[in-house]
Amino acid sequence: MDEMRKEIARRRTFAIISHPDAGKTTITEKLLLYGGAIHLAGTVKGRKASKHATSDWMEIEKQRGISVTSSAMQFEYEGFCINILDTPGHQDFSEDTYRTLCAADCAVMLIDGAKGVEAQTIKLFAVCRMRGIPIFTFVNKMDRASKPPFDLLDELEKVLGIHSSPVNWPIGTDGNFKGVYDRVNKQVQLFDQRSGHHGARKVGMHSLTPDSPELADLIGSHYQELLASDIELLDIAGNPFVEEDFLRGEITPVFFGSAITNFGVETFLKYFLELSPPPSPRRAGEEMIAPDSDFFSGFVFKIQANMNPDHRDRMAFIRICSGKYEKGLQVNLALSGKTLKLTQPQQFMAQDRSIVEEAYAGDIIGVFDPGVFRIGESMASGGKKIRYEGIPVFPPEHFARIYVKDSMKRKQFLTGIEQLALEGAVQLYKQPDIGTETYIAGVVGVLQFEVLEHRLKAEYNVSVTMSRLNYRLARWVRFKDKESVRELKDLTLTSTSMPVLDSRQAPVVLFESAWAVDWALERNPGLVFEEISD
Ligand code: G4P
Repeated sequence: MDEMRKEIARRRTFAIISHPDAGKTTITEKLLLYGGAIHLAGTVKGRKASKHATSDWMEIEKQRGISVTSSAMQFEYEGFCINILDTPGHQDFSEDTYRTLCAADCAVMLIDGAKGVEAQTIKLFAVCRMRGIPIFTFVNKMDRASKPPFDLLDELEKVLGIHSSPVNWPIGTDGNFKGVYDRVNKQVQLFDQRSGHHGARKVGMHSLTPDSPELADLIGSHYQELLASDIELLDIAGNPFVEEDFLRGEITPVFFGSAITNFGVETFLKYFLELSPPPSPRRAGEEMIAPDSDFFSGFVFKIQANMNPDHRDRMAFIRICSGKYEKGLQVNLALSGKTLKLTQPQQFMAQDRSIVEEAYAGDIIGVFDPGVFRIGESMASGGKKIRYEGIPVFPPEHFARIYVKDSMKRKQFLTGIEQLALEGAVQLYKQPDIGTETYIAGVVGVLQFEVLEHRLKAEYNVSVTMSRLNYRLARWVRFKDKESVRELKDLTLTSTSMPVLDSRQAPVVLFESAWAVDWALERNPGLVFEEISD
C-alpha cells in the first residue's frame, strides 16, 4: 500500500494545448530529451509529415500512425514519473484533444511569442477551464522577434480571462534575444546562439545577477536598463503567484523560452515538477474516488482501430484513476455491465510499445479491445461498479448523408461505420422510422468526412457517397420533468429540423440555425436541449 502511494505521488500527467505550429512537437521532443528518454531530439516521431497537405491521404494515414505511438509517452525525471498525453495537431481532430484533456491532471499551454493567443488555443483553453485544471503557459520561439511580453500577458488576461504570473522574463524581444531573467532565483540566464545542433543536445546554463557589470558587457547597457525597468514594473504591478489560485486554474505561471534551441526547457521542467499536482480524487456519481484507493479504476478516453493493418486490432486507451494495475487484472465495465480481463496492456515510449507489468493511478495504458469498450466507459476491479463522469461528446457542426455504393457491401459498411462511430471518429445518426441505409454522419471538422470515406475504403473495402446536408447544429433532447416527456415524433419543430437517434439511441434534433432551436424551445414546454452529452 505504501509502495503504491509512493508511486502515485510521483506521477505527473499532463497534456500540451496549442494552436498548430506553435511548437508542440518540438517541445515534446525536448522534454523527452531532458528526461533521457531519447538521446538526440528529432527522433520522436517521423517528424510530423506535412500536416499542411491535409488532403493527401498517405499523410493522414501516417499522421494517424504517428499519433498512436505518441498517444501517451512516459518518462522518468529526477524521481518523477511523467506522462505526456499527445494528440494530432490538426485542427479538425480537436475532439480527440478535448477527450485527452479529460485524462490529464494539468495542461501546458504553448503559445507562439510572435502570434500570441490563437483560435485553437482559445477553444482548448475553454475545456481546461471547464475542468478547472491547473494551466502552465510556455511562450515559445523567443529566439525570434516576439510581441512585447507585457502585451502577451495582457492577451492572456483579456482574451482568455486568466491571470498570469511570469516565472521568468525575456530580454531582447525585438529579434535580439539575450536570455531570460529568472524571477525566483533572481538570476539572468544567457541565451547562447551557439548552443546549436538545432537543440539536439541539452544546453549548459550560464547565470548572472541582473545588475552585474559583466552582464552589461555581455548584453549591452540598453537591454540591461530595459530589464531593470521591466523587473520593477513586474514587482509593483504584476500578479503575485498564489498556489491555490493556480490549482483552481485561475492564475497561470508563465515561462518564456525557445524549444528549438532547448533554451528554458529545463527550467520549465524543474518548476513544472515543483508546482504540478499528482493525481487527485475524481468524481464518480456521488462519490469522490481517491487515487490511492485499494482497487483499480479508470476510464476509456480514446479508442483507435486498425492500428496495425496486418491484423485488425483495436486499442482502448485507459486513464487509471485509482489503484494499481497488475497483469491479468479483472475489471467490471460500468456502461456495458461486462466483466473482463485486461490483457497485454501497453505503454508507449517514442516509437516503441512495451508490455506493462504494472501501472498506477495517473498512468495511461492501452489495452486490446475485443469490441466491448467505448469512449467514456469506466471500469473497476474488486467487483466494484464505478462510473466516472464528464467525457464529453461534442456537438458536430457539419452533416452528410452516407450511402454505400455497392449494396452487396452493406454488411461491411455497417461494421465499418459503427466501428468508426465507436472510436469517436464521427457521430452517427439514424432517422427512427427509416431503414439503416440512411445514416447521417456528423463531424466537428469537415476533414473528418474525408477521413471517414478514406478509412471505410482502406480498412473495410467499402466505397460510399456522401451528400452534404444543411444542418449546422445538433442538440440532445431532454425534458425538465416526467410530465413533459414526449416522443421525438411528437415534438413541434420547424419543417427543416430533423429528429434522429444517435448511436446510443439517444434522441437528438438536427437544426439549420440557432433560430430554429429557439423556435422549438418556445413551442415545446418542458423541453431542454443539451449541447454536450456525457
Ligand atoms: P506543432 O507540433 O505545434 O505544430 O509545431 P512544431 O513543433 O512542428 O513546430 C512548428 C515549427 O516551428 C517548426 O518549423 C519548428 O521547427 C518551429 N519551432 C518550434 N519551436 C521553435 C522555437 O523555439 N523557435 C523557432 N524559431 N522555431 C521553432 P518548420 O519549419 O515548420 O518545421 P521544421 O522544418 O523545423 O521541422
